[in-house]
Amino acid sequence: MDQKTLIEGLDNLKVFTGNSNPDLARRICEYLDIPLGDAYVGRFPDGEIDLKVNEDIRGTDVFIVQPLCPPVNENLMELLMFIDCAKRASAARVTAVIPYYGYARKDRKDEGRVPITAKLVANLISKAGVDRVLAMDLHAAQIQGFFDIPVDHIFAFPVLCEHYRSLGLSDVVVVSPDVGGIKIARAYSRKLNIKMAVVDKRRVGPEETEVGFVIGDVAGKNVIMIDDIIATGGSIVQAAKVLKDKGAKDIYVGTTHAVLCGTAAEKLAGAPIKEVAVTDTIPLDGRARQLGERISVLSISGLLGEAMRRIHTNESISALFV
Ligand code: R5P
Repeated sequence: MDQKTLIEGLDNLKVFTGNSNPDLARRICEYLDIPLGDAYVGRFPDGEIDLKVNEDIRGTDVFIVQPLCPPVNENLMELLMFIDCAKRASAARVTAVIPYYGYARKDRKDEGRVPITAKLVANLISKAGVDRVLAMDLHAAQIQGFFDIPVDHIFAFPVLCEHYRSLGLSDVVVVSPDVGGIKIARAYSRKLNIKMAVVDKRRVGPEETEVGFVIGDVAGKNVIMIDDIIATGGSIVQAAKVLKDKGAKDIYVGTTHAVLCGTAAEKLAGAPIKEVAVTDTIPLDGRARQLGERISVLSISGLLGEAMRRIHTNESISALFV
């Protein structure tokens, strides 16, 4: 398809979803004011995935919304099959919209005899035939380079910053719970015009972290602690305790990807945290209810929808983040 055909309007743009976050796909379609594409993604009696697109997509610009959250392997396979299906059905272009990129934390060989799974997942998605990828808050920005096709990497911080502005907090500092998160914390610090601090965290096992000290001043201040992922909750809960020990006032936690596995919600509920703001890249299960009114779910559907519209019409995406 040439660029001219692509920018004719949203008539030619189709959005489909697998089973990982259909509500998010519906909200994106509401933003775009188009119907969600008609497809069936079910299971054969033996557990294999059965998939069929129930409408003509020949010559269209197809977006498949599928975060790779748990059950990650099922969701990944659905995505691969959807891409294969769209290509074989003669879609003009297929974009995988992956608001949460699973396996992202295995992005290098940090010891002998381990796989680089983030690269393997990129290989699988590319090999399935996708033309572009739209991702949000990748755990490591270099994952973009694991693909040899265009990757648009967007960020949830405008939505979270809007939320923190609406809370009208005063005397506030943004904190990164580890050194790896400094860059994203700096984006919040600039956008909200507040100072930043960093908690020194070291990982001593897949589910265990050790917290050392805090770089920066948090005593007597309200804290907005930003992390890209909360999985077991270990990192955030430990960091919150250290910040409290250092005299922080109220602690607000903001995260893009609420994986919240195992007892994470329980741990967060018992931690000195006033509020946990998460986005809807991943659907929350019932366990998150333990946080009651202390959890706020912010939708990034508008941001994703706008990025998809701009991909379709060849407009700048970076302009959304200035
Ligand atoms: C680590 O580098 C990430 O930014 C998160 O802090 C980490 O993945 C969160 O994992 P958990 O909630 O299991 O501590």
